[in-house]
Amino acid sequence: MSRLSNRNAIVTGAGAGIGRAIAVRLAAEGARVVVNDLSPKAADETASQISAAGGTALAIEGDVSSSQGIERAFALCEESWGHCGLLVNNAGIVQQVPFREMNAGDWDRMIAVHLRGCFLGCRRAIASMLAAGEGVIVNIASQLGQIGGVELVHYSAAKAGIIGLTKALAREVSGAGVRVNAVAPGPVNTELVRALSPDWREAKAADLPLGRFGEPQDVAATVAFLASDDARTYVGQTLGPNCGDVML
Ligand SMILES: NC(=O)c1ccc[n+]([C@@H]2O[C@H](COP(=O)([O-])OP(=O)(O)OC[C@H]3O[C@@H](n4cnc5c(N)ncnc54)[C@H](O)[C@@H]3O)[C@@H](O)[C@H]2O)c1
Repeated sequence: MSRLSNRNAIVTGAGAGIGRAIAVRLAAEGARVVVNDLSPKAADETASQISAAGGTALAIEGDVSSSQGIERAFALCEESWGHCGLLVNNAGIVQQVPFREMNAGDWDRMIAVHLRGCFLGCRRAIASMLAAGEGVIVNIASQLGQIGGVELVHYSAAKAGIIGLTKALAREVSGAGVRVNAVAPGPVNTELVRALSPDWREAKAADLPLGRFGEPQDVAATVAFLASDDARTYVGQTLGPNCGDVML
């Protein structure tokens, strides 16, 4: 597969889980990938995995909720390979807390990592994409941004915000050659979901039409599609690899 040859990509939060699977898949399809993560060790591991498989990747530590963290990834990409034509805003955290116990710090942190991180990434990417007349952005939302999650008010709000951001930005820049879309996975087997309560996970899996959670590779396949020219008519969409939980 070489749908993404000669593409320079940045994947945030690619040191584990879904982000790692996305980075590996994009590299397998020919992209050069900058692997961002809060954990330098995790980012290095993903980049090494890609290199060992014959792909091209560079690792960089950075917090997506800060402009400097985002800038470091773009600087590495541009200095090493040139224009970043593909950005995947994936980095995320989760915290399950009843709303009445949620404090402003919990709220601010959740919004900062997801929604501010997505905004900062898009803003940094967009100028050079518009100048180049081409580019693709894929934002990782969640089906909880569509239906809400119990004890996940801040997470659900952040993910709904990402879906709104995606639609509005797509309207603004698609005419100039930049495609922006979102992916809203259902539960996926990663550390993030393993941090939620076992009771919730058991009940949730039983309730899914497929009867099981997805795997990171399922989300990565959706991202690779959206990143490729196969998705050239997809603009401002939110695709749902969600095992049938949400049907729109
Ligand atoms: N796992 C699921 O069921 C699921 C479902 C829907 C959406 N998502 C979304 O998918 C994305 C990836 O989730 P995952 O399940 O792979 O999580 P994960 O916890 O397995 O991996 C997340 C990665 O992001 C990194 N990270 C966290 N905060 C960061 C920051 N501020 N800057 C840079 N990196 C940071 C972590 O170090 C980690 O390597 C998240 O946005 C999440 O909300 C996950």
